[in-house]
Amino acid sequence: MITFDHVHFYYKKGQPVINNMSFTIGTGEFVAIVGSNGCGKSTIAKLMDGLLLPKKGSVTFNNLDTSRPTDLDMIHEHIGFVFQNPEDQFITTNVMDEVVFGMENIRVPREEIQSRLDHALRAVQMEDYLDSMPHQLSGGQKQRVAIAAIVAMRPQFIIFDEATSMLDPLGREHVLSIMHELHRLGMTIIHITHHMEEVLSAERILVIHEGRIEFDGNPLTFFETVDVKDYQLELPFAVRLYQMLYQSTSLMADWKEMIRIQWSIN
Ligand SMILES: Nc1ncnc2c1ncn2[C@@H]1O[C@H](COP(=O)(O)OP(=O)(O)OP(=O)(O)O)[C@@H](O)[C@H]1O
Ligand SMILES: [Mg+2]
Repeated sequence: MITFDHVHFYYKKGQPVINNMSFTIGTGEFVAIVGSNGCGKSTIAKLMDGLLLPKKGSVTFNNLDTSRPTDLDMIHEHIGFVFQNPEDQFITTNVMDEVVFGMENIRVPREEIQSRLDHALRAVQMEDYLDSMPHQLSGGQKQRVAIAAIVAMRPQFIIFDEATSMLDPLGREHVLSIMHELHRLGMTIIHITHHMEEVLSAERILVIHEGRIEFDGNPLTFFETVDVKDYQLELPFAVRLYQMLYQSTSLMADWKEMIRIQWSIN
């Protein structure tokens, strides 16, 4: 369980980025974190993993505290982090070493390394690229290798910080299905995204605005009850379509007009 207890954070004194934030994410949850550019999502992710430390309040993972240096190794072992740009996390020169490196870092027993490597690469369908150079792969393939490196470490929680934003729709769908598969296998998934369609498949949504939590609950309830424009967000296409059909049954008769309105910028 990750717990934020009255967390305050700033990069520059006098310019607060996280304001008195408290929440808990329990084991086995699938949580989406959304909000406009600069609202503090990546900062929250880095606070979770102990890459940043709160100025006030505490961030704990079970009974480990990110502000205790002796707890940080264990926290990194249990919380994996997939970044927006996979190149940021490549360290070695081939796919196999990339996945093995993370495991060696957390001292996975030597006899387990091969089977975890095979399993992780199969999970992301990259088993045929063992000897490839990470930098020569496509964006989607890089992202899959980055995910395999994390999966092989078997963390309890994985934070995806806009890990799908550089991918084409098929690549996004694939990474999203990997997230759901990992969730089904018992991992806790924290998915930071600007894609509202992806939010619909989460169990819980945290909406961040100016360093505060503005909504914490079921995504459908959020889209039904809150004016998303207040948070510079948009409704998922499915919800917009539903609302248009619901509001005006006559539109149903003229579906071409409905689609035209749906996509017109006014
Ligand atoms: N290293 C840093 N030094 C100083 N200010 C920073 C630093 N990183 C982020 N900030 C500032 O902190 C605020 C929150 O940034 P953060 O990266 O958490 O936003 P975000 O919600 O992840 O945005 P995005 O959707 O664009 O990724 C922003 O105002 C940003 O300019
Ligand atoms: Mg960010």
